[in-house]
Amino acid sequence: MPKLKDQPKKPKARPSVPDKRTMAERADRYTLYGLSVQEPANEAEFFTETFKKLNGRAPRLLREDFCGTHAVCCEWVKLHADNVAYGVDLDPEPLAWGEDHLQSKLTDAQRKRITLAEADVRTDNAEAPGSFSDGADVLAAQNFSFFLFKTRDELRHYFETARANLADGGIMVMDMMGGSECYIEDHTDTRTIEVEDKPLAQELGYKKFKYLWEQARFNPITADALFHIHFKFKDGSRLNQAFTYDWRFWTLPETCELLREAGFRGVEVYWETEDDDGDGTGEFEPATEGAADPSWIAYIVAQR
Ligand SMILES: C[S@@+](CC[C@H](N)C(=O)[O-])C[C@H]1O[C@@H](n2cnc3c(N)ncnc32)[C@H](O)[C@@H]1O
Repeated sequence: MPKLKDQPKKPKARPSVPDKRTMAERADRYTLYGLSVQEPANEAEFFTETFKKLNGRAPRLLREDFCGTHAVCCEWVKLHADNVAYGVDLDPEPLAWGEDHLQSKLTDAQRKRITLAEADVRTDNAEAPGSFSDGADVLAAQNFSFFLFKTRDELRHYFETARANLADGGIMVMDMMGGSECYIEDHTDTRTIEVEDKPLAQELGYKKFKYLWEQARFNPITADALFHIHFKFKDGSRLNQAFTYDWRFWTLPETCELLREAGFRGVEVYWETEDDDGDGTGEFEPATEGAADPSWIAYIVAQR
């Protein structure tokens, strides 16, 4: 019999090492972004209702351009068992994040109805990976993403491709922002984000953080605009320039004109309605006149 000292030693339990990283170092920028700026369930519902009003039937095929984490695709397939979503983005990182963090919360049947293409948005449905050859009922380009096209020719070309990727009666929907405040340089808008019971909240482990939208530069001659998103945490740490956008600040009339030049018809601005006290309702209706709010959000809906 081996002596006691020859017996294999039990591995010592490792003392748990306290995580000395700051909250910023531990943060996941896509989770923070999703909690701060995305309302994908509302978007999917708005697209559905708008399409129904224009076409008298429910839309089934969504193409989400510049989809990033494809949050809207994930909400779209939840709305109906026949809803199909196609997400297009150049960057594999947010696509993979969305698969791990958003698609993972869907059923297998819902996941099967999502196709992702790591591709340029100026790619025809038929040529893109995943052979999504049918025209889309709704083509969404959210969070001002097309602002990265800086010339009229580039933007018109994108709109022409988008139009070709729609079925007859299909609609392209994009959000727009503007107002006098957007042209102020070196200006940072800070919001406290209370995560409450939002679906991504459990990934955080804390209840609030600060979202900072910095307007770093605006060039009135070219309308080039540089924006950054930063996040701040209760331990005083800061995730600097989590996202940066080098955009041309397109206006509503310029964008509507280019959509018409690209062949779209029925191009309409959807403006937020107001209640009796003049506060925004969160509902958007077609309009031809809007109040000169210093900071507004609107949608453009363009029919193929
Ligand atoms: C402002 S983010 C928007 C993400 C998402 N739509 C949202 O609402 O949060 C812009 C996205 O567009 C992608 N992108 C930029 N240029 C692109 C292009 N030419 N084709 C496809 N995706 C592009 C980037 O990788 C990024 O994920």
